[in-house]
Amino acid sequence: MIMMKDIIQEGDPILRKRSENVPLPLNNKDLETLRQMMEYIVNSQDEEISKQYGLRPAVGLSAPQIGLNRKLFCMRCPDEKGIAMHSYAVCNPTIVSFSEEQTYLGGGEGCLSVPENENGLVPRSMRIKARMVLVDLETGNMEKVLMKLSGYPAIVFQHEYDHLLGILFVDKVKPELPKIKPIAFVSDEAE
Ligand code: NI
Repeated sequence: MIMMKDIIQEGDPILRKRSENVPLPLNNKDLETLRQMMEYIVNSQDEEISKQYGLRPAVGLSAPQIGLNRKLFCMRCPDEKGIAMHSYAVCNPTIVSFSEEQTYLGGGEGCLSVPENENGLVPRSMRIKARMVLVDLETGNMEKVLMKLSGYPAIVFQHEYDHLLGILFVDKVKPELPKIKPIAFVSDEAE
């Protein structure tokens, strides 16, 4: 089980290297890496388990963050409307198009590899299209897909994708983004 002590922190050169494509079909070790990363995310989103093990909540985790420069990441987040859950185990992704329209997380982005109090505003494309191999973690089945994402899940995808290129969100932080609208979460409007 991945714990906070296993998460590589900013300053370690592993986080700055470009990751390598993984051979397909996935070997058992890479499949296990994906399973462990998704397990961390799921556990971290569970109030009791995260408290018990001291896990910082996460919506994504990439292989370099656990010391592996391999093009693997997992993400799990709802869309901003709170309707669909975007839960993906991703291999060898390439973002093939970025919309010109931008957005950002109003509360700032954070990262398990960066101290918890360091949040920052990061401009991201509102919509992306990406090619990747998606893995069904239960069966191990793999599927080549061209995925379109928008809004919050697109932001999470771009953050995790950057990790595979050796980029951290802190590299892209802006003090303010007056010309861009932040993501509007339905849960914010209800308050
Ligand atoms: Ni991160």
